[in-house]
Parts: sequence; C-alpha cells; structure tokens
Amino acid sequence: MSGRPGTTTGAARRPLRIALVGFGHVGRRLAARLSRSGPYARALRAAGVTPRVTGIATARHGLAVDERGLSLARCLSAVRAGRSLAAFHRGPPLASAAAFVRRVPADVLVELTPLDPRRGEPAIAHVRAALRRGLHVVTANKGPVAFAYRSLRGLAGRRRRLFLHEAAVMDGAPVFNLVERCLPGARVLGFRGTLNSTTSLVLTRIEQGMAAAAAVREAQALGIAEADPANDLDGWDAAVKGAALASALMDAPVRPARVRRRGIQSLPAAAVRRAARQGRPFRLVTRAWRAAGGVRVRVGPERLAVEDPLYGAGSDSALVLQTDLMGEIAVLERGGTVEQTAYGLLSDLVAVARAHAARRP
Ligand SMILES: NC(=O)c1ccc[n+]([C@@H]2O[C@H](COP(=O)([O-])OP(=O)(O)OC[C@H]3O[C@@H](n4cnc5c(N)ncnc54)[C@H](OP(=O)(O)O)[C@@H]3O)[C@@H](O)[C@H]2O)c1
Repeated sequence: MSGRPGTTTGAARRPLRIALVGFGHVGRRLAARLSRSGPYARALRAAGVTPRVTGIATARHGLAVDERGLSLARCLSAVRAGRSLAAFHRGPPLASAAAFVRRVPADVLVELTPLDPRRGEPAIAHVRAALRRGLHVVTANKGPVAFAYRSLRGLAGRRRRLFLHEAAVMDGAPVFNLVERCLPGARVLGFRGTLNSTTSLVLTRIEQGMAAAAAVREAQALGIAEADPANDLDGWDAAVKGAALASALMDAPVRPARVRRRGIQSLPAAAVRRAARQGRPFRLVTRAWRAAGGVRVRVGPERLAVEDPLYGAGSDSALVLQTDLMGEIAVLERGGTVEQTAYGLLSDLVAVARAHAARRP
C-alpha cells in the first residue's frame, strides 16, 4: 500500500454502505454533498472507505434499497418533484421504515427523522434496531440522546459499534466530540447555551421590527425550524437539547419533561425591542448545573449582559461549558444552517469510516 500518510489508496478502500432514514432538509443536504466528488467523498476516502448509499426510507416519499448503490442525483430529483423513491427499489418489498431498518444492507444507519420531543420515537426504535443488528449509527436527532443515551451507548458498546450524534446539538460545531476527544479527565460541571437557532433568529428579527410570524417563516425557509416550529418557540427543542447534553456530557439522564421550561411566545414584542435597545437582549437560554439532588436543567428567556459570551453570539448558537480542569470553554457556531448539520454528520461518518476500515474483513 502506498500513498500520503493518513490516506488510503483506492485498492485498499472498503465500501461503506450507508442507509438513511429520513430524507428531508438534512438528509437531502447530506446526500447532495455525498453525491459529488467533493470534500465529503474525499474525507471519507482518506478515512479508508468508499461511501455508497444503499437505502433511503421516508414517511410519505416511499423507500428504496439497492445494494449496488442508489443514484443520489436521481433520488434527490424524484423527492424534490414530490415523486416516490419506490421506483428505485430493488429486492423484496419492505412494508415500513421499521422493516427497512431491520433489513437494509448497510454498515451504518443515519437516523434523520423529525424530533418527537415527548418520547423520542420512532428514532429510538430505529437506533436500537440498527445497533442490535450490528450497524453503526449516526444521527442528527436529539431524541435518542435525550431519552435513551445510556441504554443506546451500552448497546453500542456491547455490539462494538459506534453511536454518534454530533449534529444533534449545534449542528456540526464540536460539542459532544469536543468533550469526549479533547477534554480527557475533565468533568463538566454545568453549561449555558443559546441552542435553538429558530428562537435566536426570531428574537433578532423582532428586535429589528419584523413580526414573529414572518421570522418563523424565514427560519422555515432556511430549513432550521423543527417540523413543527411550535416546538422551537415553546422551548421543547431547547429542553430536549439540554437533556441530551446533560445525558452525554454530565452522565445525568434528565428526562426532557423534567426540564423547567418557558418559551418565548409569552414575551411581548415591545419588551424584546426595549431589552435590545437597553443593550441586554433576550435570548432563550438552556442551562444545567449540578445540585444536591442531581443535575438540573432549565430553559427560559434571559437577558444577556454584554460581558456574557452568549451575548457575542448575537443570533447564532453558542454554548459555554463549565469544567473542573479547564475552567470555562465557549463554542460559537456562526450562521448555522442545514449545511453545518450535514457537516456534523460527515464528521461522525469519518469516525465510522475509520472504525469500519480498521475492522478485519
Ligand atoms: N434542519 C436542521 O437544521 C437540523 C439541525 C440539527 C438537527 N436536526 C434534526 O435532524 C432531523 C431531521 O431534520 P430535517 O430538518 O431533515 O427534518 P424534515 O425536513 O422534517 O425531514 C424529516 C424526514 O423524515 C422522514 N420521516 C418522518 N417520519 C418518518 C418515519 N416514521 N420513518 C421514516 N422516515 C420518516 C420524512 O419523510 P417525508 O419526506 O416523506 O416527509 C422526511 O424525509 C430532526 O431530528 C431534526 O431535529 C435538524
């Protein structure tokens, strides 16, 4: 084998069979990036694999499996035109997304169904079924992390597979992987973050004089709003993110329903504008801290002081971690869109690719 250090030659590369459950904003962006011979394909090739999407399942656009690899360009144009993926399916019929997860020929399942903020399903069932049959799992869905982190990590460990979820909070900005890979031995004592892009955008637009409904439409057009934007505005999305961070970073399985939660819907527009004029704007803040009875998580509108790192984030997402060994660390994601979410998935897929390439045949 020859080639630059850290790279793998074509002859040595293994196919990495990727199955997608969910082909909406995020799934389509990932597919668009994977379908070209651009940086995504290069990164995966350098990790030792050739990516091949062998299956895509949706709710209303049908599903398709082809072990030889689906044409992503054709799948994208079919779904954009409102047509079913079924025309590309090869093999025995599959009755449901659950059957797809059980049967699709794949090495990694990428779970991209919408968040169910009350139960985390059907994503948890998809992740569990995939890990049980020995697939790695990558997801942007925070439900499985918030509701079932310990059991899914345990299952992944027993099956010697990866369960990775960097894109679930702050898109592709490193949060979970930052703590796991770059802060060995450090304990996360707490965190504060403006984690919901839709509410940050809506509050910023209200400050600029726009009506809240128009700002929500802008977030929907950008593809950053949840399938039901009420889940953003009433703080459910932020609560689930807080629970996901507490579970994964603080080893504290806080149920989203136990998060004290207040959204931004009750904030009068005049109060939002006045607060911004006074230089202490409102943002929806998620915070967690260790207390006598365990870890507590709270979501609610807070006014930010100018010296607060979250203030500097403006309409963007930011997270401040409090740690014992490294003090405070802030992560800021400027202009997060679905593009950054796709990148978060790529960063996890590269980790999967390395593990897959290193396995004995
Ligand atoms: N958008 C973002 O910027 C962003 C950022 C970070 C994380 N996330 C998370 O990423 C996930 C996907 O987000 P998205 O914006 O791509 O959502 P989306 O645009 O609403 O797409 C959801 C996809 O899932 C499919 N689906 C729904 N229920 C299903 C089921 N039971 N089985 C199989 N497929 C199902 C839908 O099928 P149809 O196409 O037939 O409707 C659609 O293809 C969510 O969990 C979200 O919270 C999103």
